Amino acid sequence: MPCLTNIGTLVTCPPEGGQGDLGAVRGAAMVWEGDTITWLGPRADLPREADQREGASGNGPSYDCGGRLVIPGLVDCHTHLAFGGWRADEFAARSAGTGYPEIAARGGGIASTVRATRAMSRQELADRAGGFLQGMVRLGITAVECKSGYGLSVEHELRTLRAYRDLSGSGAPRLVPTCLAGHMVPAEYAGDRQGYIRLVTEEILPAVAREGLASFCDAFLEPGPGLDAAETTAVLEAGHRHGMVAKLHADQLTDGGGARLAASLGAISADHLERVSDEGIEAMAEAGTIAVVLPIAGVYLNCPPPPVRRMVEAGVQVAVATDFNPGSAPSYHLPLALTLACVKMGMSPAEAVRGATTVAARACGLEEVSGSLAPGRPADFAVIDAPDVDSWLYHFKEGTCAATVIGGVTVAGQLPGSQ
Ligand code: NIG
Ligand code: FE
Repeated sequence: MPCLTNIGTLVTCPPEGGQGDLGAVRGAAMVWEGDTITWLGPRADLPREADQREGASGNGPSYDCGGRLVIPGLVDCHTHLAFGGWRADEFAARSAGTGYPEIAARGGGIASTVRATRAMSRQELADRAGGFLQGMVRLGITAVECKSGYGLSVEHELRTLRAYRDLSGSGAPRLVPTCLAGHMVPAEYAGDRQGYIRLVTEEILPAVAREGLASFCDAFLEPGPGLDAAETTAVLEAGHRHGMVAKLHADQLTDGGGARLAASLGAISADHLERVSDEGIEAMAEAGTIAVVLPIAGVYLNCPPPPVRRMVEAGVQVAVATDFNPGSAPSYHLPLALTLACVKMGMSPAEAVRGATTVAARACGLEEVSGSLAPGRPADFAVIDAPDVDSWLYHFKEGTCAATVIGGVTVAGQLPGSQ
């Protein structure tokens, strides 16, 4: 049984805890067998059979963490992982004062990525997304929600979701696919928006469901670049009829009543929420809708931060994710998102970590496998080169994740100090 000893801080994130509850154990050890954790706790309590320090009868390697931090594998619960091209031209235009909706109205924005994505084969999409996943794993990420939404036709939405299916498997993070055919109305339906909504509800979502390609259904509620409330409702209700749980891009650029709509449709999460109203927060608290905040997109689009403190006080659970996409968030650096959640949104480092582990796992249906460390749960964890969570998120630097383990297999870096 492999054993990690001399862990400076072991963050367990107990599922039943509150937003800031890390369940931290100082001076800890952790043992796993195959893909499953079998024991964790204070080093002094390590069972003799797992303890190699005194030459006891343990039969697996023992690793000395040298006082480092060990956390549950990070969960990025909101990404647009597979896409063609980049949009550096828009980044430059936005820095010169052109707005995101204005760029979209000119045929840029999501529409330009749709053109580049449709030009890629399933293999090319999988290869590129797979490269991003390798980078994510090196940051300590062990599970990723990944959206379609740059295909926007039956053929191209299926292509992206099939590419995600191709990527699932050993060595890769656990993937949770979401159908985001409701991202926007594509150019060829500009004069027939209802025609596109019918295509989504009567063809795309049924085809996705037939192949079991997505667990969640999402839409971008933002009249102008995205869908209006009636279109969003039609899409998410159709997703529900086909067994997909709703998620919603809500109240990002304007308060479009997205939080309330997400709550009323039984969505698992409402994401973005920079412009959410107090009524929206109340509705989410009542319905148990998770708030997913996306600080990297907030910085790139220079949006005001979402009112996280009011959400937490109202009893809303808050997840933190990257929103990785070529427009509003061209970075999959989830630890950076956590640091920004502290700096820009007033989350404590503990709350932010919980938001990218336990709460994030819940926001993408992975609460049974990801987001917490305990005996009987999968050995998905990261060894971080910092003594504790505060020091980790304070000191933003390269190479902080020493090793990432998924299901007991080291998929990036090296477990330190093999004895
Ligand atoms: O979550 N808001 C809508 N969708 C993405 C942006 C996609 C894009 O710009 O390509 C987001 O920010
Ligand atoms: Fe997004």
